[in-house]
Parts: sequence; C-alpha cells; structure tokens
Amino acid sequence: MKEEEKKALNAFQDNGGEEAVDMSRQLKIGIIGTGWIAGSHMESYLHMPDAQVVAGADLVPGKAAAFFEKFGMKDVRTYPDHKSMLDAEDLDAVSICTYNAAHAQCAIDALNKGVNVLLEKPMCVTLEEALAIREAEKNSGKVLSIGFQPRFDPNMKKIKEICESGVLGKIYYIQTGGGRRRGIPTPFGTSFIEKETGGIGALGDIGCYSLDMVLNAIGYPKPLTVTGYRSDFFGKNPKTYPFHPEYAEKFGVDDFAAAFIRLEGGIVLDFRIAWAMNLDTPGDTIIMGTEGGLRIPSTECWNGTVGGPMTLYHEVAGSQVETVIPVIEDDGPSLFDRKIRTFMNACKNGTKAPVPSEQILYNQAILDGIAKSAELGREIEIVIPQ
Ligand SMILES: NC(=O)c1ccc[n+]([C@@H]2O[C@H](COP(=O)([O-])OP(=O)(O)OC[C@H]3O[C@@H](n4cnc5c(N)ncnc54)[C@H](O)[C@@H]3O)[C@@H](O)[C@H]2O)c1
Repeated sequence: MKEEEKKALNAFQDNGGEEAVDMSRQLKIGIIGTGWIAGSHMESYLHMPDAQVVAGADLVPGKAAAFFEKFGMKDVRTYPDHKSMLDAEDLDAVSICTYNAAHAQCAIDALNKGVNVLLEKPMCVTLEEALAIREAEKNSGKVLSIGFQPRFDPNMKKIKEICESGVLGKIYYIQTGGGRRRGIPTPFGTSFIEKETGGIGALGDIGCYSLDMVLNAIGYPKPLTVTGYRSDFFGKNPKTYPFHPEYAEKFGVDDFAAAFIRLEGGIVLDFRIAWAMNLDTPGDTIIMGTEGGLRIPSTECWNGTVGGPMTLYHEVAGSQVETVIPVIEDDGPSLFDRKIRTFMNACKNGTKAPVPSEQILYNQAILDGIAKSAELGREIEIVIPQ
C-alpha cells in the first residue's frame, strides 16, 4: 500500500471515521444515476462527516427525488440528467453510478467542469472511451478514481503482498475468473443486459474485478495481445427468466467470456468469467511462479473478497510443501466506506487517486480486446496510444 493511502486509511480506521477527517473542509457531492449502486454510495457518504450530498440526477423522471426521500434527505436538489446538474451546481465531486454505457460521457463532462470523479466499475465500455476519459482527466488535473472496492479488502492486499514478496519467484502464468451457475443480474430491470446500457455483460460486471485482482497484484503490466471468446446462450434463452421471458429478446451482451492474454514481462493470463454456466466454477485463480504457486479459491459471484483460504505451493529444504493462508476477517469500515473515504481524502489533499485510471486503462483494454477479438474470431494486438 502506498504511504499516503496507508495514512489516510489508518487515520480513518483508528478514529472510527470521526476525528481522522479534516473537518475544516466539507466536500459538496453530486450523485449521477440514482439506481441500485447509488444507494451504497449514499450510505457511505452518510458515514462521512465531511461529505454533503447536495445534488443528484437521474434520467428517469422522479427517480432522483424518490431516492433522496428514501434517505430522509428532502433538501437535495435533483436534476433530469447529469449535464444540467453539472451546469447548475458548484460541486467538489461526483459519484458516477450510471449504467456502463453512460460512464464515459458523464466522467468527461464532470472532469471538464473541474469536478473530481469517483467512477463506478467497469471504467466504461470501450478502450476508445477509456482513452477519452484519461484525456479529460489529464486536462482537468482533478482526481479520477475507479470504483473497485475489493482493493481495500485485506485478503486482496495479501495476494499483492505475496506476489511482491518474491516467494513465487518469476511469475509466468496466471489463470483467473469466476462466476455463477445461474446469476444474470436483472434485479431491477434490464440495464445490465441491454447493449445500449450495459455495453458489455459478465465481462464488465464481474470480469473486470477478476482482472483487477491479479493485475494489481503483479503491478499492472501492459497487455499485448488477446484471443477472446464471448457467448450468450443463457442470456438469449427465455427459460433463463421464468418471470420475464421477454428479457431474452433484450439480451445484447455476453453471459460468458474467455480469453488468452499475453502481458508484458512474458506473463500469460488465462481468463474466464460467467454469469451463467452448467458448472459450479470455471476454475480457481492460480498464480504460477518459478519458486511457488498460489491458489485462490474462486467466488460464486463477487463480494469483494477471496472464496476461501489460499494455498501457497512451494519447496522447503527440498520438500514440496503447502502453506495455507487463512482468510483474514475484517471488522473495520466496510469496503464501500473505504472506497469513498480514500477518494474524498485524495480530493481534499490533491493526492493520487486510490484506484488510478492509468492502471484501469489496461483492465479496460483487455475487456475491449476480448470483445473485439471475439467479433473478429482471431487474436488481436492491443494497441494503447501513449
Ligand atoms: N462497485 C460495486 O459493487 C457495484 C455493484 C453494482 C453495480 N455497479 C456498477 O454501478 C453501475 C450502475 O449499476 P446499477 O445497478 O446501479 O444500475 P441501474 O440501472 O440501477 O442505475 C443506473 C441509473 O443511471 C441513470 N442514468 C443513466 N445515464 C444517466 C445520465 N446521463 N444522467 C443521470 N442519470 C443517468 C439511469 O436512469 C439509472 O437510473 C454499473 O456500471 C455497475 O457496473 C458497481
């Protein structure tokens, strides 16, 4: 963990989230998109004594007002879209909680207005969008952090510590992914499964997390080439939605994706992710190195942590042994509170984003590469302009 991040988080933890915070400055916050995940952002902002959520926007008439009313916040100003909110308000920061396809425009517009941005994952839909967001970020000089809260889970940090400790030797092969036997997300409608709103399916919803877990652990090497595959057999089947068979018609993304990715440094990444499959898991995450190997049990969906104790396979004095790394139980602030707190600290102190876009650009380049390679039916080179 970086020193500045450690200081911010320790201060927050040691003081129960109260005195640690510089109360001399409140941040005026706006929420863009008041759907499902906006509720988690709102709850965390309510835990932050220096956050004032003053405005919110949603395209659906009345949705933003109803959202704030649910939190007993009658004074929050509401707007029919992100642009009118950004024009009317003088905000320090926004949480962008729209569906994936609206991420890029909202982030670019907010950064162009000089507003700090916490952008939900995945960063966006395509690599081109990610590059445009990066450009706006650089021009603005503002903080842009991407919403990967599992980064703040101690077990995720342990994976990175293990990789960085050298105990694995040179890492040359990684397998990652996960998923669910049945779990296409349609709890509040079809925004995840329609192409116009979700843009990408299991890939963007949970695939980006699996990629972040291992890429962050090994320092985000640049992706070079990808052979990708995507399918939609379950998403397109009306039987998948007993109460809403019409969703099958709307399904325009992937419910399964797999890929073989070459990374800088001679590392190969084997990846698969499923919203639905006729299997319990498409495999654990494994990280293979010349001195040791790490097995990380896969999770059914994603709750921000590992699926069980990890195992390190290594040699001690010529004997092949296994070391079990127990799951670290964590009763500190929630991962969402940490995501919001570290973002707010970066905004206030002008420090680096806790989950920087320069890393997540590579994550997005892989998602985009998988989609493009799958469409072309062949391996492609991942080209990321400087
Ligand atoms: N970090 C996490 O744990 C986590 C969990 C779930 C979802 N997410 C991410 O959060 C995002 C939103 O997911 P959700 O389930 O809340 O979606 P949702 O469909 O419930 O809500 C999105 C809302 O954004 C609104 N919107 C779209 N464009 C807008 C615009 N230009 N201005 C204002 N409002 C706009 C829509 O009207 C909708 O109400 C997705 O990108 C998803 O991947 C993250």
